[in-house]
Amino acid sequence: MARAARAPRTSRATGDVLVRAVNITKAFHGNEVLKGIDLTVHGGEVVCLLGPSGSGKTTFLRCINLLESIDGGRIWVDGELMGYREDEKGQLHTLGDKQIAAQRREIGMVFQRFNLFPHKTALENVIEAPTQVKGISKSKAKERAVELLASVGLADKPAAYPGALSGGQQQRVAIARALAMDPKLMLFDEPTSALDPELVGEVLRVMRQLADTGMTMIVVTHEMEFAREVADHVVFMDAGVVCEEGPPDEVLGNPKNERTRSFLRRMHNAEERDAATADDVPDTGLEGVGLPPA
Ligand SMILES: Nc1ncnc2c1ncn2[C@@H]1O[C@H](COP(=O)(O)OP(=O)(O)OP(=O)(O)O)[C@@H](O)[C@H]1O
Ligand SMILES: [Mg+2]
Repeated sequence: MARAARAPRTSRATGDVLVRAVNITKAFHGNEVLKGIDLTVHGGEVVCLLGPSGSGKTTFLRCINLLESIDGGRIWVDGELMGYREDEKGQLHTLGDKQIAAQRREIGMVFQRFNLFPHKTALENVIEAPTQVKGISKSKAKERAVELLASVGLADKPAAYPGALSGGQQQRVAIARALAMDPKLMLFDEPTSALDPELVGEVLRVMRQLADTGMTMIVVTHEMEFAREVADHVVFMDAGVVCEEGPPDEVLGNPKNERTRSFLRRMHNAEERDAATADDVPDTGLEGVGLPPA
């Protein structure tokens, strides 16, 4: 399913706008961290959100799925105004908890640190929300969970507890768990940055496959290769504003904004440093016997 690197790519967009965020502002204790963010995502598109630490990427994702309230602007997902009802005079009224919960159900989120229930097996983690929140029968939910675990390459792990799974496997369970709610939109917040380097690829592969099924995805990531190959659209954020956006080849290959350029330079240097460090690791012969290298 992996696309050849740099293969010509046509946009997956179906034409319909699925997410529209207009002039989103958000402050924490007077510190404005989102300063008027606009974003449009079409159905089936993969948008990668890049930017330095503290630029507001996580906050923006959390605003989309109502984990944070916004101070200004509006967000629509599939035509529904998120978090508010607008009256005839254009006044906004906060939705009640039930309505907010209903809107949130339509959006899957995958976090950096998996957030699985440690005392539940992989299968139990996946069926939790469909049975508890959607009222789906346990047997139906199990059937679907088995399929979903197979689709993320974990057909043999339904009975495993998170503690017995690698980080990459746990993250794939987390993806299956989010998909079990049949979301319209999937949000990923640095899904591979807590993983050991050798486990990153398996999670990105699952995300790529998901993109190829037509899922609409907004992905905060520092994986430049992934962004280059999988994103239809790349958005670069810095200090609470969108500095630059466009097709990956343009934003990553020929950035126009100085802040984008300097960020990409830093990322590139860090990658080269990591590669050099990996080459420097002495072969102690201790790997595989449970001992740390000397
Ligand atoms: N709950 C909060 N209370 C106070 N400040 C917050 C809160 N959440 C985020 N911030 C601040 O908002 C700013 C943006 O944070 P955010 O986590 O959105 O950045 P980010 O781009 O996701 O960074 P990173 O790449 O490190 O994850 C930071 O200055 C952060 O300290
Ligand atoms: Mg973040």
